[in-house]
Amino acid sequence: MTEAKKLYVKTFGCQMNVYDSERMAEALGGQGYEQVDTAEAADMILFNTCHIREKAAEKMYSDLGRLKPLHDVKPGLKIAVAGCVAQAEGEEILRRQPMVDLVVGPQTYHRLPAMMQAVDRGERVLDTDFPEEDKFTLLPKDRRPTRGPSAFLTVQEGCDKFCSFCVVPYTRGAEVSRPADRLLGEARDLVARGVREVTLLGQNVNAYHGVGPEGGEWGFARLVREMACIDGLDRIRYTTSHPNDMEDDLIAAHGDCDKLMPYLHLPVQSGSDRILKAMNRKHTAEGYIRLIERIRAARPDLVLSGDFIVGFPGETEEDFQATLDLVAAVGYGAAYSFKYSARPGTPAAERAGVDPSVADERLQRLQALITAQQRATQEGMVGRLVNVLFEKPGRIDGQISGKSEYLHAVHCAGPADLLGQIVPVEIIASQTNSLTGRLRAQS
Ligand code: SAH
Ligand code: SF4
Ligand code: F3S
Repeated sequence: MTEAKKLYVKTFGCQMNVYDSERMAEALGGQGYEQVDTAEAADMILFNTCHIREKAAEKMYSDLGRLKPLHDVKPGLKIAVAGCVAQAEGEEILRRQPMVDLVVGPQTYHRLPAMMQAVDRGERVLDTDFPEEDKFTLLPKDRRPTRGPSAFLTVQEGCDKFCSFCVVPYTRGAEVSRPADRLLGEARDLVARGVREVTLLGQNVNAYHGVGPEGGEWGFARLVREMACIDGLDRIRYTTSHPNDMEDDLIAAHGDCDKLMPYLHLPVQSGSDRILKAMNRKHTAEGYIRLIERIRAARPDLVLSGDFIVGFPGETEEDFQATLDLVAAVGYGAAYSFKYSARPGTPAAERAGVDPSVADERLQRLQALITAQQRATQEGMVGRLVNVLFEKPGRIDGQISGKSEYLHAVHCAGPADLLGQIVPVEIIASQTNSLTGRLRAQS
């Protein structure tokens, strides 16, 4: 028997890349590769990359450069670049980095086995097509054992929204929804492997409109409701959703579907209508606030999260103040804020940006407000009873850690046999990014 070749995968960017990385490792499993945890142990290194901001893309180039000493002592080492930088800058990567053997975009990685054969023949391979065929139907059907009780499941890919700052419609292509029966099958398969929580993924996950098992079209709420009928699947989450695709039945599901967790990531980007228009978001700040009110009416304890961009071209102090006002009005349990990064090929990149020091200062002000809201939300959990899905041993011996229904990380002293179980926990303290709990005495 020949020894398995070793694959090291490093993932940048969003959860969809995490999902894709798993699927790529599965595809390469058929080529005799097994996954390892360090680059040093690998015969092949795969970077699954993100192009969303300039920093993210530059990080990939510097991490690639750092492989040079390893490549020097191990000339047979194969290096592959996948994901959104691969899609956007494939030729450039091959030109800038002679060590790279293979570049594959997000929509063609089902072709990896054939590509690897070409690499083994000594060729350098580039495949960044948007093919007709659906990669998911061509990937190995059997999923590998999962690493824990929580798993990602990509249901929708790509984006047709074309926000003026964003590369995703170009790197991931047009919006495509996977057929519902495949998704239900994949979810059942995950459950059979010990998964209890599934996070449904898509760049615009709530724009999902896939073919139903009997033909016809299912919207996202229908998919969630049918997923909730799977025995043994106890928790459903989804990300990332767009305000314009929050259909009524999805809002209703937040109120009446117990398995749908009370945490929602619903990015708004800015609180200024002028900037929202320039971003091509096609909604107003007021429209977003009204929408949040409707979702909270359905599920009052919902913890809300969002994304914000500061320093978008043309953003004035008044526009920025409107963003602070929106954050103050909504109240987030968590939120991510980014300094605008001009991305080549996007419409906004043509416009003059805000002075970087002004953008820095705005980012700090926004982050201070968000941090205060996050702290208040976490402190509000102290004394409450939450249900924790324990996922892994904690950092301290004798501790276990997991997530509450509100997606807060919770650790507490407890036995390892609770891993994979959902257990009531009383929250006793709040730290910067996590909560400490105490197991409820089991009666
Ligand atoms: N599909 C999701 C998010 C996509 S990218 C959505 O529509 O909400 C994740 C986040 O990155 C975005 O919500 C936005 O806040 C940020 N982002 C995207 N492009 C950016 C850019 N050019 N500069 C700074 N932040 C950006
Ligand atoms: Fe990018 Fe906008 Fe599409 Fe989200 S909705 S992926 S921000 S273009
Ligand atoms: Fe990044 Fe591509 Fe995701 S650009 S955020 S990895 S879709």
